[in-house]
Amino acid sequence: MSNKVERITISVEAHLLAKFENYLSVNGYPTRSEAIKSLMRQALIEQEWQQDTDVAGTISLVYDHHKRGTMEKLVDVQHDFGNLIVCSQHVHLDHHNCMEVLVVRGRAAEILAILAKLKAVKGIKHSALMMATTGEDVE
Ligand code: NI
Repeated sequence: MSNKVERITISVEAHLLAKFENYLSVNGYPTRSEAIKSLMRQALIEQEWQQDTDVAGTISLVYDHHKRGTMEKLVDVQHDFGNLIVCSQHVHLDHHNCMEVLVVRGRAAEILAILAKLKAVKGIKHSALMMATTGEDVE
């Protein structure tokens, strides 16, 4: 991909621009260009997930390991989708609660399928997916 920079001009309502300027300042963007490029990349990553391409991400889970069957079921699901899980990390948050973070990579639909199975395990207190990218098609 070329690194040639194109200059664009956009028209935007004043009140929307004012809100966007505030967003830039709150989020620490140095320039409008950097903010808009960041939002463009985010849109392209969302499109990768919608188009079921090869993507990467993380799934985080919190559960009480004393709850009967929860940990065993989570391990079963992870073994069923072992080809998607790059690695996993287990953190003992306190006497009861565990956090697991799975780094996943594969087709978007497959990752959403494992997320659905993990979310449905009885005893899960929190589950979340962070949709990232392999970086191949995002500048
Ligand atoms: Ni633990």
